[in-house]
Amino acid sequence: MNLPCLDHHHTGIDKRDVVAFFDELAPGWDRDLIMDRDKIKLILDTADIHPGVRVLDVACGTGVLFPFYVHRQVREVLAVDIAPEMAKIAAAKARPPIRVLCRDIQALPGTGDYDCCVVYNAFPHFPDPAGLVRDLAAWLRPGGRLTIAHSMGIEQLNRHHSGRAAQVSVGMLPAEELAGILGKWFQVDTAVSDREKYIVSGTLQKKN
Ligand SMILES: C[S@@+](CC[C@H](N)C(=O)[O-])C[C@H]1O[C@@H](n2cnc3c(N)ncnc32)[C@H](O)[C@@H]1O
Repeated sequence: MNLPCLDHHHTGIDKRDVVAFFDELAPGWDRDLIMDRDKIKLILDTADIHPGVRVLDVACGTGVLFPFYVHRQVREVLAVDIAPEMAKIAAAKARPPIRVLCRDIQALPGTGDYDCCVVYNAFPHFPDPAGLVRDLAAWLRPGGRLTIAHSMGIEQLNRHHSGRAAQVSVGMLPAEELAGILGKWFQVDTAVSDREKYIVSGTLQKKN
């Protein structure tokens, strides 16, 4: 597919535009959401979300994954989103052990002790994939798992981001390419990309 405005080497996303874009969508986000529980289950299984783990939810939006974390009895969730209106809705849903921070994830120092980091339906809004992966590696303990996932296939995803969202998105990388980027820090064991989902996941090999 030819999507000239979705060149993934283009890095001209202004974070203020990202905030404005998602703040505007926030009030209708949960109403418009199409939630496929089977896909989310598969993604969270791959992400190794199980009882007792500490999770970093990157770009949590309105907190769509929160009930799943609770169900899986995780020990802690730090959920971060840059858009205040998204984060506000997430914060209203959050109960311990879930905490919400309204920040640019890349402006926060990694703590090096999380077990799992999940970027769900959000990766194309980060203009520098390698920079983000490096920054997320800094949050995980050695052996901790990073999972970048979408509940739609790459073609649908790029179509989805070709309209108004083109201003605040870059083209999604093919899964093998993203796996190659992760490979600098992670042992990648999952790179799935089909018509209806996209999952790249691996465990942290060394500290950066
Ligand atoms: C498509 S939404 C997905 C939200 C949520 N994960 C979901 O599946 O409903 C993308 C989210 O990424 C957030 N975001 C974009 N850039 C970010 C950044 N640098 N730091 C934190 N959040 C960011 C946006 O504010 C937005 O809420």
